[in-house]
Amino acid sequence: MIIYKTIEDIGRHLKKFKEGKNVIGFVPTMGALHDGHISLIRKCNEEADIAVCSIFINPTQFNNPDDLKKYPVTIEKDIYLLEQNDCDVLFLPDIEQVYPKGLDGEGEHFDLGYLETILEGKYRPGHFQGVCRVVKRLLEIIKADKMYLGQKDYQQCMVLKKLIELIGSDVELVICPTMRETDGLAMSSRNLRLNGEDRKLALEIYKNLELIKKEVVIGNVKYLTEKTSFRLTEKGFKVDYVELAEADTLKAVSEWDGKTKLVALIAAFINDVRLIDNMVLN
Ligand code: PAJ
Repeated sequence: MIIYKTIEDIGRHLKKFKEGKNVIGFVPTMGALHDGHISLIRKCNEEADIAVCSIFINPTQFNNPDDLKKYPVTIEKDIYLLEQNDCDVLFLPDIEQVYPKGLDGEGEHFDLGYLETILEGKYRPGHFQGVCRVVKRLLEIIKADKMYLGQKDYQQCMVLKKLIELIGSDVELVICPTMRETDGLAMSSRNLRLNGEDRKLALEIYKNLELIKKEVVIGNVKYLTEKTSFRLTEKGFKVDYVELAEADTLKAVSEWDGKTKLVALIAAFINDVRLIDNMVLN
């Protein structure tokens, strides 16, 4: 694996591949890699001629400065894992490479519409603008043909689909399934911040998604989200949302017709660690 830290160097390397009509596959990450990230690298390796991963903890997408400060950094292990899994190129830029003009964005705004007003957008103001800024920039640098994303961040996948429309990019999105620990907890870099007891509690999010999947019936489904939110709060979570939504649009559903594809989404804190997960129900 070759590691590049500057746009010039990675640009020179990838240009050859682009000119040779090779498919460039790209997996953007913020590091602290786990099997969820690695599943994207594997898929990328299967489908593309060259697998490029980026590790950049993007400050503009953190609405909570404390969350940014505490974001885990495990770069040596990350490099080892990427090498073990045949990643070809790692882009490891510093902040000046990604944001040469500074962090304030010079008025750049992405019109994400209602997607930005719900769920993660509502609870993390500015988050998706930051995600769009960094991914737009990374796509300009890497000029990927395919970009690999995890369903774990369901709304992020939809936002990035919208970004691609907005910027007129022809990169193809490949959405990969959520990787879970053996007990069902969705893998997440933030899990590293959970102590033994909280790690056990975290499993409740998955268990409740499973329960929703089992209990969902035609007609009123609002009570299900309310019941789940209440149950999680009782257990000690601070719940941001429990939502049932149309899987294709993320529009909230309170009455289900039995046909529309549904996704259940949960975001909740255990102490100061915020966890998200989701499950497609039908
Ligand atoms: P990060 O949280 O590091 O995630 C990088 C990619 O890994 C995302 O596409 C995410 O959905 C995927 N991923 C995370 N956990 C997963 C799991 N358990 N199973 C499958 N895929 C999983 O998401 C980001 O970084 C950033 O917002 C980024 C897109 C890199 C922009 O900064």
